[in-house]
Parts: sequence; C-alpha cells; structure tokens
Amino acid sequence: MADTAELRIGDKTLSLEVIEGSEGERAIDIRKLRSETGHISFDPGYGNSGSCRSAVTFIDGEQGILRYRGYPIEQLAEHSSFLEVSYLLIYGELPSAQQLGQFTESIRYHTMIHEDFKSFYSAMPKDAHPMAACAAAVGALGTFYPDSLDPLDPRQVEISVHRLLAKFPTMASYAYKHSIGQPFMYPDNTKDYVGNFLQLMFGTPCEQYEVNPTIEKAIDLLLILHADHEQNCSASTVRLCGSSQVNLFGAISAGINALWGPLHGGANQAVIEMLAAIRDEGLTAKQFVDRAKDRNDTSRLMGFGHRVYRNFDPRMKIIKKACFDVLGQLGVNSKLLEIAVELEEIALNDPYFVERRLYPNVDFYSGVIYTAIGTPDNMFTVMFALGRLPGWIAQWMEMHDDPDFKIGRPRQIYTGATERDYVPVGQR
Ligand code: SDX
Repeated sequence: MADTAELRIGDKTLSLEVIEGSEGERAIDIRKLRSETGHISFDPGYGNSGSCRSAVTFIDGEQGILRYRGYPIEQLAEHSSFLEVSYLLIYGELPSAQQLGQFTESIRYHTMIHEDFKSFYSAMPKDAHPMAACAAAVGALGTFYPDSLDPLDPRQVEISVHRLLAKFPTMASYAYKHSIGQPFMYPDNTKDYVGNFLQLMFGTPCEQYEVNPTIEKAIDLLLILHADHEQNCSASTVRLCGSSQVNLFGAISAGINALWGPLHGGANQAVIEMLAAIRDEGLTAKQFVDRAKDRNDTSRLMGFGHRVYRNFDPRMKIIKKACFDVLGQLGVNSKLLEIAVELEEIALNDPYFVERRLYPNVDFYSGVIYTAIGTPDNMFTVMFALGRLPGWIAQWMEMHDDPDFKIGRPRQIYTGATERDYVPVGQR
C-alpha cells in the first residue's frame, strides 16, 4: 500500500498518494489537488516540484552523487567515451562492441551539413554570438531535413537523433569559422568524433590538421561531464517546448537558448571573463570575493553555487584535476588557474559561502581548460551545448515515451487588476 500525505484545508482533509523513486526520493502526487480543493501549489523556480519521473540521470545534491543510467560519473569519466555515454543516455544501456561500432559509424557518416547552410551562417554578423547562431541553425535543421520530423515515429526520431548528434559539431564550428573569417572546413571521416570537431574548429584548407591526443582526450572528458543533469533549466526547456509535439530540432533549439544564460551554461564564459578581469584590473582574489558578497555590488562569484549540489559538484572535482593534468602536459602556465584556485580556497573558508552552501560547480574550472587549448571565450557555452546534446535528446525521448505525457501548462496566481470597465480615450 503506497504511503499517503494528508492535506487539511478548512474542514476538508485530502489524502494524497506519495510516490517513491528507485533511490528513495519521495514526492506528493498533487494531480488531483485543484479538482478536489480548488487550490494549486505555488513554487516559483520549481525548487520543490517534480515535473516528471525519469530514469536518465540521478543526482544526490547532499552527497555530491551524479549517475547516468545508474553509472557513477567518476567511472564513466575514467573508462568511457563521449559517444558511448551518448548511447547510454539515449538508449538506456551501455552498448555492446557491435552496437557502439554501428552507432559510431552512423554518426561518422552524417557529419556533413547541407551546402546552403553556408549562406545561412554568412548572413549573420561576424560578431554574432555562436550560441545564437547554433540555436538558429539547429532550429533550421528541420527545414533541410523535413523527412524525419515526426516525434511520434520511432524511425524518424532515430534518424533525427543521429543527424543532430553528427551535425552539431559541424554547425558549431561554422559559427566559429564565420566569426574569424576563415573558410568552413568539411568533416574528416578518418577522425573520431572529437578529433573531427577539433579539425573543423582549428583546421584550415592550407594544411593537414594534426589532432593533439591530450586535447582530444580532455575535450572528450569535458563532453562526458556535461552530458546530462536531470531537469536543469535547459533540459526542462527542451521538455516543455517538446511537450507541444514540436520536432526534435525545435525543442533542442529552445534548450540551446536556455543554456546560453549566464546563470546556467553561460556561466563558463562568465567565469573566465571574471578571472581575466581580476587579472587585468590587478585585483586580489580576496578583493573580488568581498565584492561578490556585497549586496550593493552586482558581482557574483561565477561558477559558484548550485540549485541542487549543496556540498560539492562531483564534476568540478574531475575537471579541476584535468585542469592540472592537461595544462601540465601542454606546458601551459595559467595565471587564470592560479586565480581560480585562490578564489576557491578563500570562498570555501568564508562564512558567506559556507552558510549559503555555495560551492564551485561544473563551470568554475572548465573555461581554464578551454582557454588552454585555444577555444575562444564565446565558444565555451557551445562546448557545453555539444556535451549536453545527448542528455537533452534522452530527456526529450523519455518525455514522449512517458505514459503521463501531456502538454506542459503551469498555472499561476493572478495578482493584477480585478474586473473594470473600458474607459474611452477621451475620458482618461
Ligand atoms: C549550471 O541545474 C543544473 O543542474 C545546472 C547545471 C547543469 O549541469 O545543467 O549544473 C549547470 O547551470 C551550473 C550553475 C552555473 N551558474 C553559475 O555559476 C552562476 C553563479 N551562481 C548563481 O547565480 C546561483 O548560485 C545559481 C543560479 C547557480 C543557483 O541559484 P539559486 O539556487 O536560486 O540561489 P540563489 O540565487 O537564490 O542564491 C541564494 C543566496 C543569495 O544570497 P541571499 O539572498 O541569501 O543573501 O546565495 C547567493 C545569493 O545572492 N549566491 C551567490 C552566488 N550564488 C548564490 N552569491 C555570490 N556568488 C554566487 N555565485
């Protein structure tokens, strides 16, 4: 017999079912709340509200646990690859060697995009933010591939998923190449997923691009760490947009825009800009931390804090270690890394941050690696989107398979003017 929660309103008591997940999380099912009581729940920012049941990713914010389909992020970071993690998130199980081979080859041979996309990008201003270009381009994918847009047709979904995973690196690199006035590169099918992305980004038609294995491995790790994260802002955007039964490309385009915000995925760019400002303005880390604590100062310690993680972000620990490994192997001395380490040390011992349970998140160190391998600041969030793509896809597919599926339509509490009559303009 399921547990219940009793809710008393006035002289009425409502018995609500308690739902329990596989990790012991519990929720009160309020689907009959309004019909039985005339009341709705109120939870701006949804910090106490579950939007769905999901089997994709599990986070324990108190213990700093992150698992994709039950596999700890630490093990996937050490043993897996981004394409294997993409398969795991989307299909729910680790692939056999044959399944992984077929998946990898399908992605490898769909990386080219329609030639007309070149004029699509060329129409954008040179200084267009790559996230704007990517959101627009992904939304436009449906116009180039109208044959696979039905979200309720499994075969069309499979085709769209593979096309999107395969083509996004190419589309992302076009946004960058356009901004620096270099020719778009064609995909190189002799290279693996990340190696191909690197040659798309940093190769030129003038010479054969040599992939640096240290950089290739570091990017693959970063993509794994960003691949999914439960019902975060952009995943919830993909689900809400997708709940109208728009095609995959439309829903993902909405997610890219949500990720762009500096409070979400845009934080990785904001962190590196913060570190560079501290360096260039000759500020000490302590001076900046004091500014971040000052209510009268809009500065925030970007890359710190999280709605869910209240002790530490397991991804940050892995990225911080990778920072030292990669920069050491590349022989890069990074003042930005020194500042980041100092900021972390000060903040972790400052009551303001400790009391508010603010700890470094996934974005705090990732930009240091991106910078060290030559990624321009405004491409950092595109890298986040590249990593998050399989997670968004998995969440979108799970939503369509959910027996509880319905179009998302939150309620509100109206606080505006009560009824009043129209006043002709001459009498106002
Ligand atoms: C991501 O949800 C996900 O899973 C997201 C993500 C994913 O993988 O998808 O993990 C990726 O988005 C990571 C977060 C990246 N964003 C940042 O690093 C931006 C800086 N952090 C914040 O703006 C903030 O911490 C949030 C947005 C991340 C979380 O916001 P909350 O939980 O709504 O917290 P809040 O804004 O209500 O702040 C609570 C208090 C406030 O102070 P008081 O009003 O209590 O005095 O903490 C303060 C805030 O002012 N605070 C900060 C701070 N973050 C919160 N003060 C200084 N610096 C900060 N970074």
